[in-house]
Amino acid sequence: MDVPIVAPHVVGSDSLTSCSPLTMNSSAMENTATKGLKNIIAADSKISRVDGAAGSLMYRGYHIDELAEHSSFEETSYLLFYGELPTKSQLEEFSNGLKEQRALSAEVLAHLKEVPKGTHPMAQLRSAVSILGEFDPGAEEHNSEAFGKRSLMLTAKISTIVAAIKRIAEGNEPIEPDPSLSHAANFMYMMNGVKPSPDAEKSMDLILILHAEHGLCASTFSARVIAATLTDLYSAITGALGALKGPLHGGANTAVLNTLKAIGSVDKVEDWVAQTRAKKGKFMGFGHAVYQTQDPRAKFLKELSRRLSIETGDPKWYDMSVEMEKHVVAAIKRECNVDFYSASLQHYMGIPGELFTCVFAASRIIGWCAHVLEQISDNKIIRPKANYIGYDLRPYVPLDER
Ligand SMILES: CC(C)(COP(=O)(O)OP(=O)(O)OC[C@H]1O[C@@H](n2cnc3c(N)ncnc32)[C@H](O)[C@@H]1OP(=O)(O)O)[C@@H](O)C(=O)NCCC(=O)NCCS
Repeated sequence: MDVPIVAPHVVGSDSLTSCSPLTMNSSAMENTATKGLKNIIAADSKISRVDGAAGSLMYRGYHIDELAEHSSFEETSYLLFYGELPTKSQLEEFSNGLKEQRALSAEVLAHLKEVPKGTHPMAQLRSAVSILGEFDPGAEEHNSEAFGKRSLMLTAKISTIVAAIKRIAEGNEPIEPDPSLSHAANFMYMMNGVKPSPDAEKSMDLILILHAEHGLCASTFSARVIAATLTDLYSAITGALGALKGPLHGGANTAVLNTLKAIGSVDKVEDWVAQTRAKKGKFMGFGHAVYQTQDPRAKFLKELSRRLSIETGDPKWYDMSVEMEKHVVAAIKRECNVDFYSASLQHYMGIPGELFTCVFAASRIIGWCAHVLEQISDNKIIRPKANYIGYDLRPYVPLDER
């Protein structure tokens, strides 16, 4: 006989809200939970400042606009991780350190080749990071130095894993990293098998810089909660990957491309927006838990998407996005977020939609690691309280009397 996963009296209705108020816990009215912890300050952090009202973002005191214009992913990673911009020699040493750790072990490659067809790429990435931990004899070492070493290793290797996931899905062999290339250029080279043009390299570099850090977003908060139990770094990062995968977080960029594909052409966008609005549907790539104005990262991705739409001679995806932005903003009074133009941009860069969230992860890894280190350097276990709204104490009823 099949055992139901959920008790029958719970299916289809909320047993808590449907029970009589007289039987409810009497203290429930005294407290109120803040749904989604919205606007709750849960940690002190020196890593980034997300100003929702002004629509601005700073990494370690440097405005994202300046970093987007002048920095590289390697330099931004150094900044996020160590707190200061590197000198020339520090940057060289850091970049070389990443290059040395790009290659994957036979165990990880074997795993990636064996996963069942159709497995979500983020699930593959999550398992691959877990396997890295299993085969690391020092995985349980718990001090800042060990965490620092492993943070850089994960930053180096995650792009290689993502590229290998793409190659294997396409029936190709993974490509060995090329140490003569920058992190962004090598990432594209390992995905596509050809060295990228300077424009394509710059686009990837910008995507990596812009996605690297964003305060206590769901995945980063998850990483900090896990790290605060004093477990290993791999556990914190696999937890963060699981959170990022969701469509309300990092999975939104994949959903945006799927939507654009489903709509099909610019002239159908307005109707689609009206119909979705009428059904009270969700517009992926719009709205933000913190920004009340435009996401400061979106303009860069929009401009790159525009440029690549011209370069590739395929303006449809950019044009549809612009049309959708116009109608969605008018309909829901919410601006587009980082995920919206990242969808058409990555599509122009030849990255398949189902891999977009993995590209996000290849960048956000450094933000997660910086937060984990910050958490354990002044640790306190993270343990909020639930506001109990269930039954008051009631007598146990023996099985044959129910
Ligand atoms: C990001 C997001 C989860 C933030 O949620 P939030 O903190 O509750 O934001 P708000 O307070 O502005 O949202 C309140 C209401 O506004 C409306 N709203 C917000 N964003 C919306 C969107 N993209 N489409 C339709 N309605 C939206 C909804 O009615 C929402 O209530 P609901 O979440 O119960 O449906 C939300 O805007 C969303 O789901 N966006 C789409 C997914 C996405 O792009 N995620 C990537 C974020 S970087």
